[in-house]
Amino acid sequence: MAQTKSTLTHLECGNCGKQFAPNRLLNLCSDCGKPLLARYDLATAALTLTKEALRRREPSLWRYEEVLPVQNDWAMLRLGEGWTPLHHAKRLGEAIGCPQTYIKDEGLNVTASFKARGLALAVSRAYELGARELAIPSAGNAACALSAYAAVAGLPAHVYMPKDVPSLFQVECRELGANVTLVDGLINDCGVKVREGVAAHGWFDVSTLKEPYRVEGKKTMGYELAEQMDWELPDVIIYPTGGGTGMVGMWKAFDEMERMGLIGAKRPRMVTVQSDGCAPIVRAYQQGVEHAELWQGARTVADGLRVPIAIGDFLILRAIRQSGGVALTVTDAEMLHYARVMGSKSGVFPAPEGAATLAALVHLLEQGWIRPDESVVLFNTGSGLKYAHLWAHVL
Ligand SMILES: Cc1ncc(COP(=O)(O)O)c(C=O)c1O
Ligand SMILES: [Zn+2]
Repeated sequence: MAQTKSTLTHLECGNCGKQFAPNRLLNLCSDCGKPLLARYDLATAALTLTKEALRRREPSLWRYEEVLPVQNDWAMLRLGEGWTPLHHAKRLGEAIGCPQTYIKDEGLNVTASFKARGLALAVSRAYELGARELAIPSAGNAACALSAYAAVAGLPAHVYMPKDVPSLFQVECRELGANVTLVDGLINDCGVKVREGVAAHGWFDVSTLKEPYRVEGKKTMGYELAEQMDWELPDVIIYPTGGGTGMVGMWKAFDEMERMGLIGAKRPRMVTVQSDGCAPIVRAYQQGVEHAELWQGARTVADGLRVPIAIGDFLILRAIRQSGGVALTVTDAEMLHYARVMGSKSGVFPAPEGAATLAALVHLLEQGWIRPDESVVLFNTGSGLKYAHLWAHVL
């Protein structure tokens, strides 16, 4: 069977730097319990991953195979993930006084959110390395994505979601063949249940940043952005942050691209937006600390942002600070309002998390933190179509 062009060399702890051979199933660093990051032979990758070669590659995230971990063609689980459109939202930009406003529409991914990117890679790699059953705690979208890729591989998937997760997400997981358990609590409580299942049954845990490859899938958002903007990154990226793999992944992608000579040293200012009902990263950013404490009583209509504690907190905060970015909150009412503004002025019907990025942009323009002539990319991380339960309230 054919090999991919992957140049994966090893895994490295994002905290203590300890290195690990990449050819077996691993979760966290065995020394310090923090996330592992994949490292590549970027000099070799750069020989074939050129701007010229990319023009002829397939329209999916697998176009970046040199800097993805999967080694064998047979293990690439494909449902058309990635290579989502980047829209120059001209009418929206004019309406809010920021003509260079772009929307990266991740709602067009398989299972209608950007979670497809991370789970495509995590499940492909787990399948390649011999995992037999997979488990995930999820706010909803990640569970749907896991269910889909597990179905492609033919692996059992065990998904744990808060019991108030909208029924559509439960239905989608079940129809995709997953075993669904609803938990009385939040995503971190679901994580406890997953750990019990792992201990009892030997499942492989694909929680955010608790295995090394979801972030590799998410980083392709950074590669695509650079490629779609003709290798000139925007001034600002605004990203709705829960567990943070998107932020961490894109920041990693920019570093890799610079080392391969695909981009220069310029970096976007990375903005994290959270709900004022659950904002552990914003609080830690404002306090100037490296780790975020558990947010008590988390409440928001944006389920993907209802993440009271994140194991990759220090990596998210590092990306925000190193980039000269900022972290801010918006209210749930603003998300509902700006969903309609985005929809009616751009044609993109966002998830509430995506609408949060527009609310954040409006605040940052008002504060003068973003100048009207700067280029800004908003990440619409999911499709509004999955949130009928919310829009019913704003009819
Ligand atoms: C639509 C949506 N946006 C954003 C997020 C947060 O993403 P991350 O955990 O990568 O920070 C989620 C997570 O569930 C989500 O479903
Ligand atoms: Zn470590």
